[in-house]
Amino acid sequence: MTRALVTGGAGFVGRHICARLLSEGLDVVCVDNLVAGTGALPPERWPHPPNGRFTFVATDCRDYFARTDEHFDYVYHLAAVVGGRIMMETQALCVAEDLAVDALMWKWAAATRPGCVVFFSSSAAYSIGYQRVVGHQRLREEMISFEDALGVPDLSYGWAKLTGEFLMKLYVERYGGRAIAYRPFSGYGEDQDLAYPFPAICQRLMAEAGRDEVFVWGSGLQCRDFIHISDCVDFVWRSVDRLPSGTSLNLSTGIATSFIALAEEVAQQIGWQPNVSGLSDKPEGVFYRCGDTAMQKHYGLLPSVTLSEGVGRMLDQLRFTAGRAA
Ligand SMILES: NC(=O)c1ccc[n+]([C@@H]2O[C@H](COP(=O)([O-])OP(=O)(O)OC[C@H]3O[C@@H](n4cnc5c(N)ncnc54)[C@H](O)[C@@H]3O)[C@@H](O)[C@H]2O)c1
Repeated sequence: MTRALVTGGAGFVGRHICARLLSEGLDVVCVDNLVAGTGALPPERWPHPPNGRFTFVATDCRDYFARTDEHFDYVYHLAAVVGGRIMMETQALCVAEDLAVDALMWKWAAATRPGCVVFFSSSAAYSIGYQRVVGHQRLREEMISFEDALGVPDLSYGWAKLTGEFLMKLYVERYGGRAIAYRPFSGYGEDQDLAYPFPAICQRLMAEAGRDEVFVWGSGLQCRDFIHISDCVDFVWRSVDRLPSGTSLNLSTGIATSFIALAEEVAQQIGWQPNVSGLSDKPEGVFYRCGDTAMQKHYGLLPSVTLSEGVGRMLDQLRFTAGRAA
């Protein structure tokens, strides 16, 4: 039976990856120490409990790497201290621990030789120079090249992801391993932690429905490329065995949506039209982060959940949760 290790598998993306791998008949070992402040949930609290050959190991993946030399067909490495914008900005050195986690993962992979390492990088690895108010561009995979000048990525989180991709390059070229990196943009879904803008905006507007004015963080003009988690997971599943080793691929829709536009869509689906303003004392991050989709299209990867559908699903989930609590 095909065996997969999923580090950080109890987090938002990991739960969906585990579910997909189990539904495809893989044997899944999920290693996660449920770090506070991340999106981690213990398996008994997952919205869809894991079904199939599933083992949960509640430990730091660094300890797991130190004590096992088991062979896996796939290693999905998602373990990271992520959190939302506040965590990235205020706990930059905690987030930097990802550098240590990733370095040990690549070293362990070089020793145990999994069939394929799937490294979850991030759109935060791209240079912030391409994401400013003036001169921003859709981010193309080749904008990160270790053969050429590199820009400055987004805080310690972005540096960790960029370094993780460089270690992947060394792993592939000097150790002969197979590995793929994915760069998700703003992945969202109904079970995402409220530290992230998509669920936070939906929840806040539900609570404030009917008010004349509502607020979003930053200027509100900052744009993100929101992609539903089901599309992210589907893109990974459909491309992982087809991409050449050492490839990095965006997980994006190519559609940039401002926070104000997102809030207006949410309000419209709730059924009112407030004035949406920015909150200048809250961080906004980079101004424009949107991923080019040409390479994804080349592999036949097109998103199936529109932003409007995603908002509808999120609002349904929030109504369901509120109904249960009442
Ligand atoms: N959600 C997105 O849209 C998005 C965007 C870009 C990149 N990513 C990347 O995808 C991966 C998963 O992100 P997420 O949104 O699911 O975050 P998340 O916070 O929900 O999950 C991260 C998980 O990693 C676990 N973890 C942290 N350190 C660990 C360690 N040392 N050992 C074992 N487990 C550990 C946490 O407990 C948590 O369950 C991360 O690598 C993240 O950088 C996600």
